[in-house]
Amino acid sequence: MPSALSRYRWPILGAVVVTASATAVAMTWSSQQQSQAVARAMTGGDPSRAPDIIRRYGCAGCHTIPGIPGGDGQVGGPLTNIKHRVYVGGVVPNSPDNLVRWIVSPQTFSPRSAMPATGISEADARHVASFLYAQ
Ligand code: HEC
Repeated sequence: MPSALSRYRWPILGAVVVTASATAVAMTWSSQQQSQAVARAMTGGDPSRAPDIIRRYGCAGCHTIPGIPGGDGQVGGPLTNIKHRVYVGGVVPNSPDNLVRWIVSPQTFSPRSAMPATGISEADARHVASFLYAQ
């Protein structure tokens, strides 16, 4: 006669696997939410508005930007791990205000920079900065 343990082994194992997967999904979701909340607080911008703005100002034509379809430009460096960078453009300490100012007007910090001022407004640059910090 099979013991209770062997009869229920597979259903129990199944339940454990389902619970573990659901927990992993929930944790990933909540850490993304948390990163976005931190980025919003840092910049006053809204990361969800950035993809449209990034497309409109051609950022992805020059930069590889994770999360932007077709964002594989190679003119400037990839915009990855921005929250871990010490400097923006290699010239100015990485802070939300400096990142926003760089995005609006790189020449303010780096007169010979090859990155053009794209005409993006400060408000839109805040949305883009929040998106970059949320990654
Ligand atoms: C014509 C190409 C071009 C366009 C368009 C462009 N960039 Fe750049 N970007 C560059 C280049 C080249 C650099 C490196 C310049 C430097 O270090 O002086 C750069 C640097 C940067 C940096 C600093 C990166 C670092 O590693 O410190 C950020 C942030 C940035 N760009 C964001 C943007 C955003 C956001 C947009 C759209 C509003 C944009 N760029 C549009 C060419 C471009």
